Amino acid sequence: MNDTAIDYARYDHIRPILWTGEVLELLDQRKLPFLVEHVHCRDSDEVAHAIHALAVRGAPAIGIAAAWGVVLAARAVEAADGEDAARKLEPALQRLNAARPTAVNLAWALARMRRALEGAGADWRAVLEREAQAISDEDLAANRHMGALGAGLITPGSGVLTHCNTGSLATAGFGTALGVIRAGMAQGRIGRVFAGETRPWLQGARLTVWELQQDGIDATLIADSAASHLMKTGAVQWVVVGADRICANGDTANKIGTYQLAIAARHHGVKFMVVAPSSTMDMDTADGAQIEIEQRDPGELFGIGGTRTVAEGIAAWNPVFDVTPGTLIDAIVTERGVIESPTLEKMRAAFG
Ligand code: MRU
Repeated sequence: MNDTAIDYARYDHIRPILWTGEVLELLDQRKLPFLVEHVHCRDSDEVAHAIHALAVRGAPAIGIAAAWGVVLAARAVEAADGEDAARKLEPALQRLNAARPTAVNLAWALARMRRALEGAGADWRAVLEREAQAISDEDLAANRHMGALGAGLITPGSGVLTHCNTGSLATAGFGTALGVIRAGMAQGRIGRVFAGETRPWLQGARLTVWELQQDGIDATLIADSAASHLMKTGAVQWVVVGADRICANGDTANKIGTYQLAIAARHHGVKFMVVAPSSTMDMDTADGAQIEIEQRDPGELFGIGGTRTVAEGIAAWNPVFDVTPGTLIDAIVTERGVIESPTLEKMRAAFG
């Protein structure tokens, strides 16, 4: 199947990031699914804050938002050419880069914006705006292509389990792992979709099943702790997840809980697929031990929906990503092709 055989009007209509030409409008993912509200960013520090506070989230989406953040930062800078602008914009780029540490797409997008300024003349602002738009457009195209590639791996009638939110909300549109699920549903390959809640922030419960509902795709929500039992019942043949950073050897950082899904999948003979664009590849990082894992406020574990559920005075540990060893991954799907059972050699052949 090629990418264009999918009814994108049905399967790709949610947009988390909108550049109006003046303002960056971010669909506020802290409020979904009950409130559809936007955060309006008018300078780069507002974008950095929105990324840190998870108003916009998901590895590709934070890279795209940061790129538009650079466009906003350019408003406050007078510079003769690209080189001059790069120097003056650097503090704003550093603040954007510091907003979240784990997803490499953030640093990748900022590096692209820096590179775009090299050799730019007096029209450097327009150069930046074109580059941010290109980053967004390329992400959407990559997702649609990966959807077709990943769905092609799935035997018709399969059940799939996904984790976190990897859909339109986490990208320029369509999604990575959720793009594969959308394509697999459109092709009639996927029989049933399960989504884990994804404690503590509930990306699965608040965002993923909502996104699928918008498309008319039935999904079944499970508690994260039900995953191994679900696999034991034989209801799922694939776990399909996204990624925040994939190292040179295939080790993959993704939402906390992904690693235990990979272990459980291997134990039960369930296949494990990671879907991510090349902007998520970090060939400069040898393996997962080198990845900085974001730690968030332990307070995120003390309640649900603003209601405290834990007694006062309890300690909590809140790492929000973990690393799945490449050896537990059956396929990494990228827009450049599929890497089965990733190794350093295979990753180098694909990504240099
Ligand atoms: O903390 P989040 O919600 O930004 O974490 C997101 C994830 O872990 C996603 O699985 C990953 O970014 C891939 S999104 C296409």
